[in-house]
Amino acid sequence: MSGCPYFEKSHLLFKNKPPKTEEEEEDASQAGVNKASKGGIIYGDYLHLDKVLSAQVLQSEVKGNKIHDEHLFIITHQAYELWFKQILFELDSVRNIFISEHVRDERNMLKINNRIHRIVRIFRLLVEQFMVLETMTALDFFDFREYLATASGFQSLQFRILETKIGVPDNLRVPYNRRHYRDSFKGQDRETLLATEQEPTLLKLVEEWLERTPGLETDGFNFWERLEINIFKGLNQEKGEIEKMADSADKEEAMAELVKQKEVFTSLFDEKCHDHLFSKGERRLSYKALQGALMINFYREEPRFQVPFQLLTSLMDIDTHMTKWRYNHVCMVHRMIGSKAGTGGSSGYHYLRSTVSDRYKVFVDLFNMATFLVPRHWVPKLNHNIHKFLYMAECNDSSYFSSEDSD
Ligand code: HEM
Repeated sequence: MSGCPYFEKSHLLFKNKPPKTEEEEEDASQAGVNKASKGGIIYGDYLHLDKVLSAQVLQSEVKGNKIHDEHLFIITHQAYELWFKQILFELDSVRNIFISEHVRDERNMLKINNRIHRIVRIFRLLVEQFMVLETMTALDFFDFREYLATASGFQSLQFRILETKIGVPDNLRVPYNRRHYRDSFKGQDRETLLATEQEPTLLKLVEEWLERTPGLETDGFNFWERLEINIFKGLNQEKGEIEKMADSADKEEAMAELVKQKEVFTSLFDEKCHDHLFSKGERRLSYKALQGALMINFYREEPRFQVPFQLLTSLMDIDTHMTKWRYNHVCMVHRMIGSKAGTGGSSGYHYLRSTVSDRYKVFVDLFNMATFLVPRHWVPKLNHNIHKFLYMAECNDSSYFSSEDSD
C-alpha cells in the first residue's frame, strides 16, 4: 500500500507486533457486534428508530389504498422539524454563552462562530430540500390535500420559536387573517411562545456585545468622532475637486452624487435620525451597536476583529437563508395550490409572498453597512495603543485606550 505512512505495516507503529492470525482478525471485526450483544446499546435503540420510523402515519384512504406521495410529504415535514430542532439547540447554546457573559472571554468567540456557521449550513440544506418535495405534482398533492384538514405549517411551533429567538420583531409580522400568529396556538404551546418572547433574542445579545466594541470609548480612541471628521473632510475635498471641473453634464452628475452622499452621512451621524429610523423598524441595532458594527467592518483585518467580522457575516447569512427559505417555500406553494387559500386558513400564496420582505430580516443594519463604506484612506488611522490592543489577544488593560495618544 502506498500513500499514508501509517498504513504501512513496516511503519514504526506496527513494528514488534506479530501479524494477527485469521481468528484474531475475525474477532476484531466482530468486536462492535459482540459489545452490543453483551449489553451495549445498538444502532436502532440508540436512535429510537422504532419511534422515528413508525411516525409516518398516512391519512389518505382511497378504495383501501394510501396515496403514494403523502409519504414523501410527511417525511419532508418531519425532516424539516428535526433540523429546526438542531438549529434551536445551537441557537440556545450561543445565546447562553452571550447571556452568561462568557463571551467576554474571547476564546468563546470561536465556539459562537462555529455554531452560528453550523446554523447557516443547516439553513442552506433546508433551502435546497424543497426540491425533493417539488417532484410531487400539483395533482398528486391535490389527491390527498383534503386529508390534511386544517393542519398547516403555520402551526409549526418550532418555526415560530426560531423566528422569535433570532429576533423577528412582533410588530413587523404580517397579520394572518387579521389575527396575531400566536392565536393559532393553544395551551402549553401558547405558554411556550409567550415565555420565548420574554427571552433575550440573538439580535439583542449581539447588540449588547457590539456596544462594547473596543475603540468606541469617547474618552479613548473615539472612533465615531474621528470617523465623522474624516468623512466630512473627505467629502469637502471631493467637492473642491468637482468645482474645479469644467461645466458639463458629468460635473452636474458628480455634484448631485456628492449631495446624496452628504445626506447619507449627515443622517448617519445624527442620533435623532437613527432613533426615527429605529422607531419605524428600519434600523434594529442601537446607535452604539451600529457604531461597533461599522468599526469591525472597517478594521476587520486586525487580528482581534477577524472572528467578530466573520460572526457578522454569518448573521447576515442566517437572514439571507431564511429569506431564501421563505421564497422557495412560497414558489412551491404557488405551484402546488395556485392562489387557493391555505389549509391553515390564510390567503395562501398572497399571504406567504408578503412575508418575503425586509420586515422579517433581523440583521438589516449589517446589510446596510455597505452604504456607509468609504475609501480606505478616510478611515481613521489606529493609534499605537488601540492598534496594539487589537493585535494582541486577551488584554483587558483599559489604559490601552488612552486618548492622549494621537495618530
Ligand atoms: C406541498 C407543500 C406545501 C404547501 C402547499 C404549503 C402551503 C402552505 C400555506 C398555504 C401556508 C400559509 C398558511 C396556511 O394558510 O396554511 C404555509 C405556511 C407555512 N408552511 Fe407550508 N406548505 C408546504 C410545505 C411546507 C414544508 C415542507 C414546510 C416545512 C416545515 C412548511 C412550513 C411552513 C411554515 C413554517 C409556514 C408558516 C410560514 C409563515 O407564516 O411565515 N410548509 N404553507
